[in-house]
Amino acid sequence: MNQRILFLGPPGAGKGTQAERLAASRNLLHLSTGELLRAEVAAGSALGDEAEAVMARGELVSDSLVLAIVRARLACCSGGWLLDGFPRNLAQAKALQQLLEEIGQPIELVVLLALDDETLVQRLLSRGRADDNEVVIRNRLIVYRDQTEPLIAFYSAQGLLTSVAASGTVEAIAERISAVVG
Ligand code: AP5
Repeated sequence: MNQRILFLGPPGAGKGTQAERLAASRNLLHLSTGELLRAEVAAGSALGDEAEAVMARGELVSDSLVLAIVRARLACCSGGWLLDGFPRNLAQAKALQQLLEEIGQPIELVVLLALDDETLVQRLLSRGRADDNEVVIRNRLIVYRDQTEPLIAFYSAQGLLTSVAASGTVEAIAERISAVVG
């Protein structure tokens, strides 16, 4: 069974929704950098203060800050894990690869959740999180295309990537993911 999994996909594709379900059913550590950053903002920590304005614009928080968060969590995890929302650019992907080599836990599968832009925007507008207004959502999509999408080629070249259609009901998508995770 694949136990070290990465979810890739645009904002609103359902990474968080599906990651929560899969992690619960397979007893995996679910690591969402977005959730971890929002917790820091809510706690009013120095890290949260640094991240807040960047997140409100839909830009990416600095690699060093995000990497420090992930490194601390993965280093103490001996079981399986599911990364959601990380890595977000090639620098993060390369740093992750190095970290995973150091701890002997290579990625086994990258699942790309694919969905058209208009459905993404509609889903996010219905949710209404602090960074879910139309201007910021469009910027998050631009940032995704510019910085995160190149990871598709990066992981494809390593034979790790599989794409799943992220349209339809949460249950239907969960079944598709389950089928590829095995
Ligand atoms: P992050 O929290 O990762 O947000 P995101 O990638 O923009 O993704 P979302 O949470 O918006 O969408 P999702 O794909 O998880 O979908 P979800 O399941 O929630 O990042 C937020 C910010 O933090 C970034 O902009 C950046 O500033 C910063 N950040 C985070 N990680 C970083 C990193 N590694 N480096 C630098 N900065 C980083 O679903 C969306 C909505 O749709 C929900 O309301 C859900 O209920 C609904 N929904 C889900 N599935 C369905 C379905 N099948 N049908 C109908 N509705 C559905």
